[in-house]
Amino acid sequence: MRYFGSKTSTVQQLFNLVSERIPSGTFCDPFGGIGTVASYFKQNGYLVTSGDILSFAHSFQTARIVLNRPSQFRRLQTALNLSSSTDIVNHLNSLKPISGWLTREYAQERLFFTPTNAKRIDACRRAIKRWKTEQLITPKEHAVLIASLIDSMDKVANTAGTYYAFLKSWHRKAMRPFSFEIVRPVAGPLGCRAVLTEAETLVADNEVDILYLDPPYNHRSYPRYYHLPESIALGLTPRVHGSAGMPKRQFHLSRFNRPNDAANALRDILSQAKYKLLVFHYSDDGLIDAGEVKSILHKYGRVEEHSILAAGYTNVTGPRSIDHRLYLVNND
Ligand SMILES: C[S@@+](CC[C@H](N)C(=O)[O-])C[C@H]1O[C@@H](n2cnc3c(N)ncnc32)[C@H](O)[C@@H]1O
Repeated sequence: MRYFGSKTSTVQQLFNLVSERIPSGTFCDPFGGIGTVASYFKQNGYLVTSGDILSFAHSFQTARIVLNRPSQFRRLQTALNLSSSTDIVNHLNSLKPISGWLTREYAQERLFFTPTNAKRIDACRRAIKRWKTEQLITPKEHAVLIASLIDSMDKVANTAGTYYAFLKSWHRKAMRPFSFEIVRPVAGPLGCRAVLTEAETLVADNEVDILYLDPPYNHRSYPRYYHLPESIALGLTPRVHGSAGMPKRQFHLSRFNRPNDAANALRDILSQAKYKLLVFHYSDDGLIDAGEVKSILHKYGRVEEHSILAAGYTNVTGPRSIDHRLYLVNND
Protein backbone atom coordinates (compact mmCIF):
# COMPACT_ATOMS: atom_id res chain seq x y z
CA MET A 1 0.00 0.00 0.00
CA ARG A 2 1.03 3.60 -0.32
CA TYR A 3 2.43 4.87 2.95
CA PHE A 4 3.20 8.41 3.95
CA GLY A 5 6.97 8.74 4.52
CA SER A 6 7.63 5.42 2.78
CA LYS A 7 11.29 4.81 1.95
CA THR A 8 10.57 2.51 -1.00
CA SER A 9 12.39 4.80 -3.40
CA THR A 10 15.45 5.30 -1.17
CA VAL A 11 15.89 1.93 0.50
CA GLN A 12 18.49 0.77 -2.03
CA GLN A 13 20.68 3.85 -1.38
CA LEU A 14 20.24 3.36 2.36
CA PHE A 15 21.14 -0.33 2.06
CA ASN A 16 24.33 0.42 0.08
CA LEU A 17 25.55 2.89 2.69
CA VAL A 18 24.79 0.60 5.62
CA SER A 19 25.91 -2.74 4.18
CA GLU A 20 29.36 -1.50 3.19
CA ARG A 21 29.93 -0.60 6.85
CA ILE A 22 28.19 -3.58 8.52
CA PRO A 23 27.56 -6.36 5.96
CA SER A 24 25.54 -8.66 8.26
CA GLY A 25 24.06 -8.83 11.74
CA THR A 26 21.09 -7.42 13.60
CA PHE A 27 19.02 -4.53 12.27
CA CYS A 28 16.41 -2.70 14.35
CA ASP A 29 13.74 -0.45 12.77
CA PRO A 30 11.56 0.86 15.65
CA PHE A 31 9.53 3.25 13.41
CA GLY A 32 8.98 0.47 10.89
CA GLY A 33 5.62 1.44 9.34
CA ILE A 34 4.45 -1.26 6.94
CA GLY A 35 7.88 -2.89 6.98
CA THR A 36 9.43 -1.60 3.76
CA VAL A 37 12.96 -1.02 5.06
CA ALA A 38 13.09 -3.93 7.52
CA SER A 39 11.88 -6.42 4.91
CA TYR A 40 14.57 -5.20 2.50
CA PHE A 41 17.26 -5.86 5.12
CA LYS A 42 15.65 -9.22 5.99
CA GLN A 43 15.75 -10.20 2.33
CA ASN A 44 19.45 -9.39 2.37
CA GLY A 45 20.19 -11.65 5.33
CA TYR A 46 20.00 -9.32 8.34
CA LEU A 47 18.23 -10.47 11.50
CA VAL A 48 15.54 -7.84 11.78
CA THR A 49 13.47 -6.43 14.65
CA SER A 50 10.75 -4.03 13.60
CA GLY A 51 8.32 -1.91 15.58
CA ASP A 52 5.48 0.59 15.34
CA ILE A 53 2.61 1.84 17.47
CA LEU A 54 -0.09 1.19 14.86
CA SER A 55 -1.84 -2.18 14.85
CA PHE A 56 -2.32 -2.28 11.10
CA ALA A 57 1.38 -1.52 10.55
CA HIS A 58 2.17 -4.35 12.97
CA SER A 59 -0.01 -6.68 10.85
CA PHE A 60 2.04 -5.84 7.75
CA GLN A 61 5.27 -6.38 9.68
CA THR A 62 4.03 -9.75 10.92
CA ALA A 63 3.00 -10.82 7.41
CA ARG A 64 6.22 -9.72 5.73
CA ILE A 65 8.92 -9.91 8.40
CA VAL A 66 7.96 -12.39 11.13
CA LEU A 67 6.66 -15.10 8.81
CA ASN A 68 8.96 -17.01 6.51
CA ARG A 69 6.45 -19.22 4.76
CA PRO A 70 2.97 -18.49 3.41
CA SER A 71 0.28 -19.21 6.02
CA GLN A 72 -1.66 -22.42 5.51
CA PHE A 73 -4.88 -21.56 7.44
CA ARG A 74 -5.31 -25.27 8.27
CA ARG A 75 -8.13 -24.95 10.81
CA LEU A 76 -10.00 -22.56 8.53
CA GLN A 77 -9.53 -24.87 5.54
CA THR A 78 -11.10 -27.72 7.50
CA ALA A 79 -13.97 -25.56 8.78
CA LEU A 80 -14.79 -24.27 5.30
CA ASN A 81 -14.11 -27.59 3.61
CA LEU A 82 -11.45 -26.07 1.37
CA SER A 83 -8.25 -27.73 0.24
CA SER A 84 -5.66 -24.94 -0.04
CA SER A 85 -4.84 -21.41 1.09
CA THR A 86 -5.54 -20.27 -2.49
CA ASP A 87 -9.09 -21.53 -1.98
CA ILE A 88 -9.38 -19.13 0.98
CA VAL A 89 -8.45 -16.19 -1.23
CA ASN A 90 -11.02 -17.38 -3.80
CA HIS A 91 -13.57 -17.81 -1.00
CA LEU A 92 -13.02 -14.18 0.15
CA ASN A 93 -13.28 -12.96 -3.42
CA SER A 94 -16.58 -14.71 -3.98
CA LEU A 95 -18.37 -13.74 -0.74
CA LYS A 96 -21.81 -12.20 -1.11
CA PRO A 97 -21.39 -8.38 -0.85
CA ILE A 98 -22.66 -6.86 2.42
CA SER A 99 -23.76 -3.31 3.11
CA GLY A 100 -22.14 -2.72 6.53
CA TRP A 101 -20.35 -0.03 8.52
CA LEU A 102 -17.64 0.63 5.93
CA THR A 103 -20.15 0.88 3.08
CA ARG A 104 -22.39 3.25 5.04
CA GLU A 105 -19.65 5.55 6.34
CA TYR A 106 -17.08 5.44 3.54
CA ALA A 107 -19.11 4.82 0.37
CA GLN A 108 -22.57 6.29 1.05
CA GLU A 109 -21.84 9.18 3.44
CA ARG A 110 -18.40 9.82 1.93
CA LEU A 111 -16.73 8.89 -1.35
CA PHE A 112 -13.72 6.83 -0.25
CA PHE A 113 -14.92 3.76 -2.20
CA THR A 114 -17.50 2.91 -4.81
CA PRO A 115 -20.49 1.17 -3.16
CA THR A 116 -19.76 -2.02 -5.15
CA ASN A 117 -16.19 -2.24 -3.82
CA ALA A 118 -17.16 -1.17 -0.29
CA LYS A 119 -19.73 -3.99 0.00
CA ARG A 120 -17.10 -6.54 -0.99
CA ILE A 121 -14.59 -5.08 1.49
CA ASP A 122 -17.30 -5.20 4.18
CA ALA A 123 -17.94 -8.87 3.39
CA CYS A 124 -14.23 -9.72 3.76
CA ARG A 125 -13.91 -7.60 6.90
CA ARG A 126 -16.81 -9.38 8.59
CA ALA A 127 -15.64 -12.86 7.56
CA ILE A 128 -12.14 -12.26 8.96
CA LYS A 129 -13.59 -10.86 12.19
CA ARG A 130 -15.87 -13.90 12.58
CA TRP A 131 -13.00 -16.34 11.91
CA LYS A 132 -10.97 -14.61 14.61
CA THR A 133 -13.84 -14.73 17.14
CA GLU A 134 -14.45 -18.41 16.37
CA GLN A 135 -10.70 -19.08 16.70
CA LEU A 136 -10.49 -20.56 13.23
CA ILE A 137 -7.30 -18.57 12.57
CA THR A 138 -4.14 -18.02 14.61
CA PRO A 139 -3.05 -14.47 15.56
CA LYS A 140 -0.40 -14.58 12.79
CA GLU A 141 -2.93 -15.77 10.21
CA HIS A 142 -5.22 -12.97 11.36
CA ALA A 143 -2.39 -10.46 10.83
CA VAL A 144 -1.82 -11.80 7.30
CA LEU A 145 -5.52 -11.49 6.42
CA ILE A 146 -5.77 -7.97 7.90
CA ALA A 147 -2.63 -6.74 6.09
CA SER A 148 -3.93 -8.31 2.88
CA LEU A 149 -7.39 -6.76 3.24
CA ILE A 150 -5.93 -3.29 3.90
CA ASP A 151 -3.41 -3.63 1.08
CA SER A 152 -6.13 -4.75 -1.36
CA MET A 153 -8.55 -2.06 -0.17
CA ASP A 154 -5.93 0.65 -0.57
CA LYS A 155 -5.55 -0.24 -4.25
CA VAL A 156 -9.17 0.86 -4.87
CA ALA A 157 -9.39 3.75 -2.38
CA ASN A 158 -10.44 7.09 -3.85
CA THR A 159 -7.71 8.97 -1.99
CA ALA A 160 -4.46 10.77 -2.60
CA GLY A 161 -2.74 8.17 -0.43
CA THR A 162 -3.97 8.66 3.14
CA TYR A 163 -7.45 8.38 4.67
CA TYR A 164 -7.48 12.01 5.77
CA ALA A 165 -9.59 12.97 2.75
CA PHE A 166 -11.24 11.47 -0.30
CA LEU A 167 -10.89 12.91 -3.79
CA LYS A 168 -13.58 15.20 -5.18
CA SER A 169 -14.01 13.12 -8.31
CA TRP A 170 -13.55 9.40 -8.83
CA HIS A 171 -9.96 8.44 -9.48
CA ARG A 172 -9.31 5.74 -12.09
CA LYS A 173 -7.98 3.27 -9.50
CA ALA A 174 -11.16 3.60 -7.41
CA MET A 175 -13.19 2.40 -10.37
CA ARG A 176 -11.25 -0.88 -10.60
CA PRO A 177 -12.93 -3.90 -9.02
CA PHE A 178 -11.74 -4.82 -5.52
CA SER A 179 -9.72 -8.02 -5.44
CA PHE A 180 -8.48 -9.65 -2.21
CA GLU A 181 -4.79 -10.51 -2.59
CA ILE A 182 -2.49 -12.03 0.00
CA VAL A 183 0.54 -10.15 1.36
CA ARG A 184 3.42 -12.60 1.15
CA PRO A 185 6.32 -13.09 3.57
CA VAL A 186 9.75 -11.89 2.48
CA ALA A 187 12.41 -14.61 2.38
CA GLY A 188 15.21 -14.25 4.93
CA PRO A 189 16.66 -15.60 8.16
CA LEU A 190 14.44 -17.23 10.79
CA GLY A 191 13.86 -15.30 14.01
CA CYS A 192 12.95 -11.85 12.65
CA ARG A 193 10.52 -10.05 14.96
CA ALA A 194 7.79 -7.42 14.93
CA VAL A 195 6.82 -5.65 18.15
CA LEU A 196 3.77 -3.45 18.64
CA THR A 197 5.28 -0.86 20.93
CA GLU A 198 6.67 2.62 21.38
CA ALA A 199 10.05 3.07 19.69
CA GLU A 200 11.50 4.23 23.01
CA THR A 201 10.73 0.83 24.58
CA LEU A 202 12.06 -1.21 21.68
CA VAL A 203 15.28 0.80 21.61
CA ALA A 204 15.81 0.54 25.36
CA ASP A 205 15.24 -3.24 25.28
CA ASN A 206 17.53 -4.19 22.38
CA GLU A 207 21.25 -4.07 21.72
CA VAL A 208 21.80 -4.21 17.96
CA ASP A 209 24.39 -3.83 15.23
CA ILE A 210 22.39 -1.30 13.22
CA LEU A 211 19.78 1.00 14.70
CA TYR A 212 17.73 2.67 11.98
CA LEU A 213 15.55 5.56 13.18
CA ASP A 214 12.97 6.90 10.73
CA PRO A 215 10.49 8.83 12.90
CA PRO A 216 7.70 11.14 11.65
CA TYR A 217 9.28 14.44 10.66
CA ASN A 218 6.30 16.80 10.64
CA HIS A 219 3.03 17.40 12.52
CA ARG A 220 1.03 14.86 10.50
CA SER A 221 -0.20 12.13 12.81
CA TYR A 222 -0.17 8.58 11.41
CA PRO A 223 -3.09 7.34 13.57
CA ARG A 224 -5.26 10.14 12.13
CA TYR A 225 -4.07 9.78 8.54
CA TYR A 226 -4.62 6.00 8.64
CA HIS A 227 -7.72 5.91 10.88
CA LEU A 228 -9.62 3.50 8.60
CA PRO A 229 -6.89 0.82 8.27
CA GLU A 230 -6.42 1.08 12.05
CA SER A 231 -10.16 0.65 12.77
CA ILE A 232 -10.14 -2.45 10.55
CA ALA A 233 -7.04 -3.89 12.21
CA LEU A 234 -8.55 -3.29 15.66
CA GLY A 235 -11.86 -4.85 14.58
CA LEU A 236 -13.73 -1.64 15.47
CA THR A 237 -16.75 -0.02 13.82
CA PRO A 238 -16.76 3.32 15.66
CA ARG A 239 -19.08 6.32 15.28
CA VAL A 240 -17.32 8.68 12.90
CA HIS A 241 -17.61 12.36 12.03
CA GLY A 242 -16.49 15.03 9.56
CA SER A 243 -15.55 14.75 5.92
CA ALA A 244 -12.76 12.25 6.66
CA GLY A 245 -15.05 9.93 8.65
CA MET A 246 -12.70 10.29 11.61
CA PRO A 247 -13.55 7.93 14.50
CA LYS A 248 -14.45 9.43 17.84
CA ARG A 249 -11.49 8.00 19.70
CA GLN A 250 -8.39 9.31 21.36
CA PHE A 251 -5.51 9.48 18.87
CA HIS A 252 -2.00 8.96 20.08
CA LEU A 253 0.17 11.93 19.05
CA SER A 254 3.81 10.95 18.73
CA ARG A 255 6.34 13.21 20.43
CA PHE A 256 8.02 13.37 17.01
CA ASN A 257 4.89 15.14 15.66
CA ARG A 258 5.14 17.92 18.26
CA PRO A 259 7.23 20.96 17.26
CA ASN A 260 8.23 21.64 20.87
CA ASP A 261 9.03 18.06 21.80
CA ALA A 262 10.54 16.38 18.72
CA ALA A 263 14.15 17.26 19.57
CA ASN A 264 13.74 16.05 23.16
CA ALA A 265 12.13 12.85 21.91
CA LEU A 266 15.24 12.21 19.81
CA ARG A 267 17.54 13.00 22.76
CA ASP A 268 15.56 10.61 25.00
CA ILE A 269 15.58 7.72 22.55
CA LEU A 270 19.32 8.08 21.89
CA SER A 271 20.12 8.16 25.60
CA GLN A 272 18.88 4.54 25.82
CA ALA A 273 20.26 3.24 22.52
CA LYS A 274 22.88 0.46 22.22
CA TYR A 275 24.23 -0.04 18.68
CA LYS A 276 27.36 -0.27 16.53
CA LEU A 277 25.96 1.95 13.77
CA LEU A 278 23.20 4.50 14.18
CA VAL A 279 21.32 5.67 11.09
CA PHE A 280 18.99 8.61 11.54
CA HIS A 281 16.77 9.25 8.52
CA TYR A 282 15.18 12.68 8.46
CA SER A 283 13.75 15.20 6.07
CA ASP A 284 15.50 18.53 5.55
CA ASP A 285 12.22 20.32 6.28
CA GLY A 286 11.54 18.31 9.45
CA LEU A 287 10.49 19.73 12.82
CA ILE A 288 14.04 19.34 14.15
CA ASP A 289 16.25 21.54 12.01
CA ALA A 290 19.43 20.13 10.52
CA GLY A 291 21.70 22.13 12.86
CA GLU A 292 19.95 20.79 15.94
CA VAL A 293 19.99 17.21 14.62
CA LYS A 294 23.75 17.45 14.18
CA SER A 295 24.35 18.93 17.59
CA ILE A 296 22.25 16.15 19.21
CA LEU A 297 24.03 13.40 17.26
CA HIS A 298 27.55 14.77 17.81
CA LYS A 299 27.37 13.68 21.44
CA TYR A 300 27.43 10.07 20.21
CA GLY A 301 30.41 10.19 17.85
CA ARG A 302 31.51 11.44 14.45
CA VAL A 303 28.50 12.21 12.27
CA GLU A 304 28.56 11.37 8.56
CA GLU A 305 25.88 13.03 6.45
CA HIS A 306 24.42 11.74 3.19
CA SER A 307 21.85 13.63 1.21
CA ILE A 308 19.27 11.62 -0.68
CA LEU A 309 16.92 12.93 -3.31
CA ALA A 310 13.78 10.85 -3.00
CA ALA A 311 10.69 10.48 -5.13
CA GLY A 312 9.14 10.74 -1.67
CA TYR A 313 5.50 10.19 -1.01
CA THR A 314 3.61 9.96 -4.28
CA ASN A 315 0.19 11.45 -4.64
CA VAL A 316 -2.18 11.19 -7.57
CA THR A 317 -0.84 14.30 -9.28
CA GLY A 318 2.57 12.68 -9.58
CA PRO A 319 5.76 12.17 -7.61
CA ARG A 320 7.36 14.96 -5.68
CA SER A 321 10.89 15.10 -4.37
CA ILE A 322 11.80 15.56 -0.77
CA ASP A 323 15.37 16.02 0.35
CA HIS A 324 16.21 13.39 2.90
CA ARG A 325 19.30 13.20 4.95
CA LEU A 326 20.90 10.10 6.38
CA TYR A 327 23.04 10.73 9.42
CA LEU A 328 25.40 7.87 10.23
CA VAL A 329 27.05 7.65 13.63
CA ASN A 330 29.63 4.96 14.31
CA ASN A 331 29.94 3.79 17.87
CA ASP A 332 33.67 3.01 17.97
C1 LIG B 1 8.30 7.92 8.56
S1 LIG B 1 7.24 6.59 9.00
C2 LIG B 1 8.22 5.16 8.70
C3 LIG B 1 8.19 4.78 7.25
C4 LIG B 1 8.88 3.47 6.96
N1 LIG B 1 10.29 3.53 7.22
C5 LIG B 1 8.63 3.09 5.49
O1 LIG B 1 9.58 3.08 4.70
O2 LIG B 1 7.48 2.80 5.15
C6 LIG B 1 7.20 6.71 10.74
C7 LIG B 1 6.45 5.59 11.47
O3 LIG B 1 6.66 5.78 12.87
C8 LIG B 1 5.49 5.39 13.56
N2 LIG B 1 5.58 6.05 14.89
C9 LIG B 1 5.35 7.34 15.23
N3 LIG B 1 5.66 7.55 16.52
C10 LIG B 1 6.10 6.38 17.02
C11 LIG B 1 6.59 5.96 18.28
N4 LIG B 1 6.68 6.79 19.31
N5 LIG B 1 6.97 4.68 18.42
C12 LIG B 1 6.89 3.79 17.37
N6 LIG B 1 6.43 4.13 16.16
C13 LIG B 1 6.05 5.41 15.97
C14 LIG B 1 4.35 5.83 12.68
O4 LIG B 1 3.16 5.10 12.97
C15 LIG B 1 4.93 5.54 11.27
O5 LIG B 1 4.56 4.26 10.85
